[in-house]
Formats: sequence, C-alpha cells, structure tokens
Amino acid sequence: MCGIIGYAGGESDDTVLERLLHGLSNLEYRGYDSAGIAVANAPLAVEKRQGELSELERALTDGGTDSDDWIGSDAVDGFDGPTGIGHTRWSTHGPPSDVNAHPHTSPNGSVAVVHNGIIENYCELREELSAAGYEFRSDTDTEVVPHLIDQERSAGVDRFAAFRAAIDRLEGSYAIAAVFPGCETIYVARHESPLVLGLGEDGNFLASDVPAFIEYTNQVVYLDDGEFAAVSPSSVTVSDESGAVVEKSIETIDWDPEDAGKSGYDHYMRKEITEQPRAIRDCLRGRIEELGGTVSLPELEGLESPSSVQFVACGTSYHAGLFGERLLQRRGIPAQTFVASEYDADELPVDEETLVVGVTQSGETADTMRALRGANRAGATTLALTNVVASSAARECDHVLYIRAGPEISVAATKSFASQQVTLSLLATALADTADPSSSASREHLRELRRLPDHIQSVLDDSNARSVAEAFLESDAYFFIGRGYNAPVALEGALKLKEITYRHAEGFPAGELKHGPLALVTEATPVFAIVSGREKTSATIGNVTEVQARGAPVVAVTDSPETVGSHADYVLEVPETHPAVMPIVANVQLQLVAYWLADALDRPIDKPRNLAKSVTVL
Ligand code: F6R
Repeated sequence: MCGIIGYAGGESDDTVLERLLHGLSNLEYRGYDSAGIAVANAPLAVEKRQGELSELERALTDGGTDSDDWIGSDAVDGFDGPTGIGHTRWSTHGPPSDVNAHPHTSPNGSVAVVHNGIIENYCELREELSAAGYEFRSDTDTEVVPHLIDQERSAGVDRFAAFRAAIDRLEGSYAIAAVFPGCETIYVARHESPLVLGLGEDGNFLASDVPAFIEYTNQVVYLDDGEFAAVSPSSVTVSDESGAVVEKSIETIDWDPEDAGKSGYDHYMRKEITEQPRAIRDCLRGRIEELGGTVSLPELEGLESPSSVQFVACGTSYHAGLFGERLLQRRGIPAQTFVASEYDADELPVDEETLVVGVTQSGETADTMRALRGANRAGATTLALTNVVASSAARECDHVLYIRAGPEISVAATKSFASQQVTLSLLATALADTADPSSSASREHLRELRRLPDHIQSVLDDSNARSVAEAFLESDAYFFIGRGYNAPVALEGALKLKEITYRHAEGFPAGELKHGPLALVTEATPVFAIVSGREKTSATIGNVTEVQARGAPVVAVTDSPETVGSHADYVLEVPETHPAVMPIVANVQLQLVAYWLADALDRPIDKPRNLAKSVTVL
C-alpha cells in the first residue's frame, strides 16, 4: 500500500522537509516503487522520483530535474514553506515512473495532492475534465483530483469548499491530502483507506499509518470514513460530510518506534493476516455487479474464450492455481494446474486457444516466468495474475489481472493468497460468462464474496486458533485434509505451518489418506480437517473417523460445527457461507494456527531460515 505523510509546522525553515523525508523513510517498510513531496511555498515546491527514497533525496539536493516549469523551486532551499505532504507509491494505475509518482498537481500549480486507494470512476472524470481542457500527464487515477479542485478554485470557491466538492465527485476508496501555495493548512479526507492525525507540540501531522510520525508524537486521532480534516500548525479540525464539526477522542500510542512499522503487532505476518478484509475489499472494488450477477474485468478485454486453461505457479500461488482449476472445472471449462518448474509447453497440448495463467504474487518468480515464456512461444494466450504492477509477469503476458493485496513483507504469503483466490473466483465467473453466454454467474457466490471481508473479520475477532496451536506444541507431525474446494487449502495449511514452525506437516486431498499416509497417523499427529457443511461433508467425516480410529486428535475447521463438531476434538469455526468461499475463510484459521505455533516455538516468523520472498533463480 502507498504511504502518506503530512506535516503542518509553521516554521519557514528546513523542518518541514526534514520531517516529511523522515516520515517517508518510516513508511518504507510498506513497500513502494516511487516517492515524492510537495511543500506549500508560493509557488508550490514539488519533487518526485521513481525508485528508492535516496533518488528523491538526490533530486532535491541536486536541485531537481523536474520538467514541470511552474515548479519554481530548483534547490532544497525552495522547500522551506510552512507545511507539506509526502507519499510513497505502490503502483495500482500505470507503471512506476517519475510522472506517475505522487504528489499530482493541477497544470497551473494551484494545488498538490497525494492519495492512497483506488478511484473507481476516474475514467469518466478524466473524460469530463479532458473535455473541459485539462491535460493529463500521468496514467494514474489520482490526477483527476487536483484537476477537480482546480476547476472549483477557478470558479472562485474557497480552498476547503473546493476540496470538499472534488471529494464529493469520487467513487472508490481514498485517503487524500492536499496543499495549496502559501497556505499553512493541509486538507484531508478519508473513505475506506486509513488516515490518522498526529497532534504534536510543535505542529500537527497526518499519515496513512502511525509510524510515519511516531518519533514526534504519540497523541493520535483516527479519522473515520466520510470525515474531513483541516490540519494547521496550531489546530486540527475534523468535520463530517455535511461540514459539521466532529469531536474526536485523542488516543495515546504506546508502541516502541522500532516496532511501529508492524502497527503494534509483533510480526508482519500477523499484521498481514489481519489486513485480509481490507485487501479483499480492494480486490473486489468495482469488479462485481451483484444485482445482475456479473463480474466486470476490463483488463480482460479482447481475450477470446479459451478452449482450456492451464495454471502455472509455485508454492502458495500453486495452491491458489489448484483452487482456480476447481472453480473453472465446475463451470465446464477444462483446466489444469502445473508446478511451474515442471511445466513444459512443448510437451503439452498448448495452442492459441489455450489460456496460460501465471499465478505469482511477486511477478518475478523465475520458474513461473520460464513457464510463461514457454507458453508464449508455443502460441498460447498468457495472463499474469499478480500483485506487483509492471512486474516481469505483468509486462510479458498478453493480459494482466492485479490482485490488489498491497505489499506483503513477511516471507510467508498470507493476504496475497486470499486475494489470489478472490481474483480467481472473479476470473472463473468472467470466463464462464464468455464461454457460455446463457450461464448466469451464481448470485449467491458473488454475494458471499462480497461478505467475505466480514466473514474473515469475525474469524480474526473470535478465533481460538492460539489455544489449539498451543495444545499441539510437541506433536510429531501435522496433517491437513480437505475435499473439493477445500483440498488446496489443506495443502496450503501444511505449507504455512512447515515454513514458519520448521515442523513436519503434510496436506492431502482427504480421500488420499488411506492410500498411504494413514500409516503415519498416530496419537502424536493432529489432523486438521477442513469440512464444508454443504459439500462432500459425509465423505470427509468418513476420513475423519478413519484417523480418529488410529488415535489421532482431530481439529475440524468448519462452517457447520453442529454436524461436524461431534467428530472432532477441537473446532475452529468459520461463518456459514458458499462452499467456494468457505476455504478462503478456513485458511485464515490455519494461518493463525501456524502463526501461534511458530510464535510459541520462538521462530523468526517473518524471515524463516533458507527462504526468500521472491525466488528469482531457477
Ligand atoms: C509461501 C510462499 C512461497 C511463494 C512462491 C511463489 O508462503 O510465499 O511458496 O508462494 O515462492 O512466489 P510468487 O507468488 O511470488 O510467484
């Protein structure tokens, strides 16, 4: 996710610049591909650069090379205004570049804006503003905002009213901050993207996340959706959509600045597990038309209906591929998943009617890239399903679908897996519609996808995974079983547990147990059974009784505790939902079991031994 920092300090010296740059460096942990700042000098002073923060700092100290001729300041000395905003960007619209970096400005420099989130109606707004004579320099959705504000200002509207009027036109999610030339107040707005204000002794802050300013103040005010704020050096005023002032409570943050990047959690993995509801909301945003039961993925425009689909992927992404394969097969589309390192397009039935989907969080995994390049050479249509804009997979495939999970820092994939599963659910529905126009997408499935963030939140709020994990600290091995849609999650549950706890774990389609692995099952090997109350229930319960007969303790992960509970020693409950949505929620329970077990064993959870976040060697 992008990071925002703002500081209203009032002094005309280097303090603003220094605090903005410090705030940006505190936000680096979130991941970013470019960074920029705007200081409210008159004219505005703006600098922004693709790449590391050091590139931005170099541009500032070298006097900058920005081609925007209204940017009057050409040295750090020009950045001494009373107030400023900064941004680290993680691309969502348009590749990383100087021009696409924030802040974005109106052509005449009347306002500079930073934004986190996704503006869903930016295409319509862009068209409207272009017709009104506004020129767009970037590929971003954000650039509509300064133009909208400028339009109001040109009509004589005051700064805050112009800002409000512009925000009123936006659909989607945003945390937005704007500065105006020579004005010491920063205007901000929030809707479904975090924004927190920091009340300091020598000025006030705003940020997407507390770490940005934690060294300067621990007194914070969290903005709620629909709220606006005017942040000046001496005051902070919060108002609602109607303009009425809102009294907010001030909270005291007691995190150590060192741990602040993890928002108070001990590990990035735990933080990322808890971010899943937000990640899924972002993934779904603007992509489901529930009433008509349809999915809208403009990224797939021009994609011919494939005769078959092949998924290529590694590790956790491979498990997502297995889930996607099941979704497509149930819709009558032939689909198969390959471990990318085993994929050889020359030895497989691959032609121009084959769609090869590379599922890859990083978009850089060497095995997946090799498989995709082979598929390209064999004439297949290729699609990258990835988290990283302009990654190798995104650039080299014919089509790209972003999963919008935001940066994942922990080596173990968590939120990216959930976002991959959701994106694959959308893809399957979209392809089924294309393959057979008479088949209408399952409304219930789409409705339950919409409810998925709430389902996951309820698991996060009430999970007993910690006590279950602690009950099995000394086990010999851990087995995971599931059928149908739940089988890939059984594999993923085992992978997560083994990579961060260093304990032996295996996952199987439930029916496979009796064909060999059952020989390993003893009273010292807990079996985690993922059981849907609506599908293949009795068959999986049959497998559960097989392991119970060998003395193994059973942990049922289920949305039907009344049916399954009597067959289990422990239950990890999930809300009742569609069978193709249930495994996404069940997996959260398994992530938590792995996490708490690793925590109890004092493992280096975010950086397990021998593993890397992005595997760029074959
Ligand atoms: C496990 C994990 C790995 C990755 C695999 C593929 O937690 O993170 O198994 O899933 O290395 O990486 P991507 O998805 O970046 O291609």
